[in-house]
Amino acid sequence: MGKNNKVTLASQADKHKLYENSVQNVEFEVEFLANEFKANRGRECRSFREDFCGTAQAAVEWIKQHKDNTAVGVDLDQEVLDWGQKHHVSKLSDEQQQRLQIYNENVLAVQTAKVDLIAASNFSYWIFKERRLMREYFASVLAALKDDGVLFLDAFGGYDAYRELKEKTKHDNFTYIWHQKKYNPYNHDMECRIHFTFPDGSKMKNAFEYSWRLWSLPEIRELLLEAGFTKVVTYAEGWNEEEEEGNGVWSPSEEFDADPGWLAYIVALK
Ligand SMILES: C[S@@+](CC[C@H](N)C(=O)[O-])C[C@H]1O[C@@H](n2cnc3c(N)ncnc32)[C@H](O)[C@@H]1O
Repeated sequence: MGKNNKVTLASQADKHKLYENSVQNVEFEVEFLANEFKANRGRECRSFREDFCGTAQAAVEWIKQHKDNTAVGVDLDQEVLDWGQKHHVSKLSDEQQQRLQIYNENVLAVQTAKVDLIAASNFSYWIFKERRLMREYFASVLAALKDDGVLFLDAFGGYDAYRELKEKTKHDNFTYIWHQKKYNPYNHDMECRIHFTFPDGSKMKNAFEYSWRLWSLPEIRELLLEAGFTKVVTYAEGWNEEEEEGNGVWSPSEEFDADPGWLAYIVALK
């Protein structure tokens, strides 16, 4: 309910659904992961662990993609895992559910069977703000991968990343607002928020809150290599000149444009 107990669009909305519709594109993600694993390792990827899985949408999509695929999801927050169970996991068949395991645990402590691929998406690993902790996370992931396993990460940057700003994206029935609330140049700590607003003027403020360190690509690459990964490949998105936006084609690159905002995918090979 909103102010004065009025039924508003915000009071009726589901924040996890809004998040998934705004931020995630698991069909693309899972296809990219499978293709790039094969390109780097010369074999099919079958076992997948989704760290910081939230609603476990990617893990569930992975299960659907192939009858031999297995997936593990790990997240600290039981509430979001319960939501994922209700909206995604329960829609799988019994046989599919047997190929999926969800752990309500810390990614730093969880013990899982060795897998081909581990992914930590949407910058979730930036929750580790010290080199020591980040290296510990990378080392624990390395130990949880098969001998030719791969870790998949993403990153963002550009000069807008250092600004305190709000970025609005309009969707059919709501507006998604990415809010970089605070950035501290001393240690690169950043406080980010996600808000949603609705056509009736109602708002869902602070639906999600993140406290991250803004890491740079060389720092991440160096830490991955220090933790024992043998090779790190960074992917940049191609550019559509006509539309003046990214063209959705990602390829390995050692040169990025100095854009106000860029995204990168990182593939680390064991
Ligand atoms: C930014 S959301 C990412 C959700 C989803 N993976 C995605 O790609 O959109 C971050 C998630 O990480 C979880 N989380 C934060 N710290 C964690 C930790 N140390 N171990 C496991 N999960 C953690 C939170 O509960 C939250 O669901």
